[in-house]
Amino acid sequence: MKTAPSLLLLLLGALLPAALHGAPADTPSVRKYKICVPEMVLDECNNLARQDGVHLTCVPARDRLECLDKVHTHKADFVPVDPEDIYIAANNGDNHFAVFKEIRTKEEPNEEFRYEAVAVIHKNQPLRSVQDLRGLKSCHTGVGRNVGYKIPLTKLSNFHVIGALNDKSLTARENELRELSGLFSKACLVGNWSADPELNKRLKKQYSNLCALCEHPDICNYPDHYSGYDGALRCLSDNGGEVAWTKVYYVKKHFGIAIGGDPTVVVNQTGYDPSEYAYFCPDGTKKPILGRACRWAARPWQGFLASDDLLNEVPQLRQQLKLANTLGEQQDASWLSKVLLVLKGKTTVVDNGQPLSPQAYLNKANYSDVIGRNFGPNDPIRSA
Ligand SMILES: *[C@@H]1O[C@H](CO)[C@@H](O)[C@H](O)[C@H]1NC(C)=O
Ligand SMILES: *[C@@H]1O[C@H](CO)[C@@H](O)[C@H](O)[C@H]1NC(C)=O
Ligand SMILES: *[C@@H]1O[C@H](CO)[C@@H](O)[C@H](O)[C@H]1NC(C)=O
Repeated sequence: MKTAPSLLLLLLGALLPAALHGAPADTPSVRKYKICVPEMVLDECNNLARQDGVHLTCVPARDRLECLDKVHTHKADFVPVDPEDIYIAANNGDNHFAVFKEIRTKEEPNEEFRYEAVAVIHKNQPLRSVQDLRGLKSCHTGVGRNVGYKIPLTKLSNFHVIGALNDKSLTARENELRELSGLFSKACLVGNWSADPELNKRLKKQYSNLCALCEHPDICNYPDHYSGYDGALRCLSDNGGEVAWTKVYYVKKHFGIAIGGDPTVVVNQTGYDPSEYAYFCPDGTKKPILGRACRWAARPWQGFLASDDLLNEVPQLRQQLKLANTLGEQQDASWLSKVLLVLKGKTTVVDNGQPLSPQAYLNKANYSDVIGRNFGPNDPIRSA
């Protein structure tokens, strides 16, 4: 007789959580979610976990890499990550993870990507395929950087416009420089081409056409009027450049198009006329500057990676992060950036649509091959 009520309780216990899954996201979650953090910020994480309404416990690990492991083996539920961590997850049990929330800037919270790498040309430049880039005068942000260097090198190599960059008798960096020097007639590609000043000098002499389009070709280093995201566009508009490798955000600034607004409307007269230029696309077509850009690749936003067995609880997880973000901003708490990677006043957590596997997340940005390639030397992988 005594077993009947306890059986009922057991049954209820089994059914209730299932019923809760369908409940609105602001239903207080009963269980606590385990966020994995590097040991260095464990104290800050515990401060976060003590907040009213926050149902988190902190699982320490040596670093982000070990956190991925802990999420994979279900010792933690989720971890805040950079795209490079997402790349590692994609190659270590892709379907065990899901990107369920992103960290975006408040300036562009509706953009799908953190930045989009584009090629800008003069509208009448006669180009019909990527092969036609050969012989052009090319404007770059600087050596070793993502948008102005790694992305074009990776994609142009994939398209066989340049070689495979694998001549073993040369360093990785010299492979890259030699191919670019052979492809373009002139370029502006500032920066230290080697950490060794003597080697830097030798390379700049040997591949001097890659500095010819700079403000100071003999120096070919920062700061140069024609370097950086905006400098590459000045190089195109004012210094005889024929193609500029930069990102959409700076194209908008250059031509006075509103950031985060209608891309077809000029709101600021900058002296540069967008109707004289075009985006050049990887498929050989052109797109107007006043409109949706065509991209060579995009850098995904940072985000949060959960274990796949939490897919049913994504609404609760999202709600927890939203609450933590709000509290962190109100209190100017140091855990906001140190634990959650959110920068006060600058960035914010945003729900993406369906949670995506790491590979799917990188694929929609065409970014995997860019992260996957080894660039030399001292690849500053986390910098833009
Ligand atoms: C470039 O090299 C110079 C001289 O070796 C050094 O002083 C400078 O810090 C380097 N710049 C960067 C961005 O690495
Ligand atoms: C408008 O363009 C000028 C010149 O390029 C620039 O200095 C200024 O910051 C721009 N203003 C806005 C609101 O973008
Ligand atoms: C990725 O590449 C495809 C095919 O070239 C293209 O249609 C798409 O716009 C690209 N997306 C990004 C974000 O670069």
